Amino acid sequence: MDGRDWKKFLFPYEQTVEELKIKFKTLRAELKNREEYSPIEFVTGRVKKISSILDKAKKLNVSMDDLETGIEDIAGIRIMCQFVEDIETLRELIHQRKDMKVLYEKDYIANKKESGYRSFHMIIEYPVQTSLGMKKVLGEIQLRTLAMNFWATIEHSLNYKYKESMLPEEVRTRLSRAAEAAYLLDQEMSNIRGEIVEAQKLFEDNSNLVTVILNCIQVLYFYHRVREAVQFQMRFNEIFEKDDTRAMRELQEEIQEAIKRAKKGAR
Ligand code: GTP
Ligand code: MG
Repeated sequence: MDGRDWKKFLFPYEQTVEELKIKFKTLRAELKNREEYSPIEFVTGRVKKISSILDKAKKLNVSMDDLETGIEDIAGIRIMCQFVEDIETLRELIHQRKDMKVLYEKDYIANKKESGYRSFHMIIEYPVQTSLGMKKVLGEIQLRTLAMNFWATIEHSLNYKYKESMLPEEVRTRLSRAAEAAYLLDQEMSNIRGEIVEAQKLFEDNSNLVTVILNCIQVLYFYHRVREAVQFQMRFNEIFEKDDTRAMRELQEEIQEAIKRAKKGAR
């Protein structure tokens, strides 16, 4: 490593990682505030260690002068999500941003790796402002669910411990099964999420129905259909008590018919 000043070389990457972490943490806080839900659970980042940069350069046959273009993940950000669906949401948000440019993507969710690894990778170009002016650096954003992260973290530490794919067959088989279990966990969670969203929508619908019916009853009073209005109010009370959505819908249709008749009669 003939006299490269690594500290200087890595400085823009360190700045990039710090800035990206702040930006995605801020995005999380903002979305939580505005939409009461954030597709981001938490964010981590790191600058690749010098030894890993050298290892990868050797593996990929990248010369020391081409590190900046030859190694794309010297700056790395990881964004963890609760649900698989959040990954697509985030991906779109990142594409829309004007402060970074997506160069290409690797979808290890649709095409999981042989190890069982799943995540969505985006290789970006990030313009970082240094004391010497603007510098465009490459970076890797990994998007994954909590389950994917759990698996990858354990698998990584095991591989680290055993070094150079010397993982015993037994352990590898178990890891593969664990990857399958993580995948099923994500699927189950997606189903639960779907049901929660559905239930929330149903609740929305029901409370809208109540508003519509009560407004309609007021309209009947306006047309002096007092007896009808009182009858509808009584039926409403009864149905509301029983929490019967279907009966509530039928009641709404009947009231709307009554209003039509009332309007005709008023002409
Ligand atoms: P690396 O030399 O590992 O960076 O691979 P690459 O440049 O061919 O890119 P790839 O998209 O395969 O992997 C990039 C990053 O994804 C890695 O640095 C890891 O963070 C992660 N990754 C990829 N494969 C695996 C895996 O099998 N297990 C774990 N735990 N992480 C993985
Ligand atoms: Mg890597």
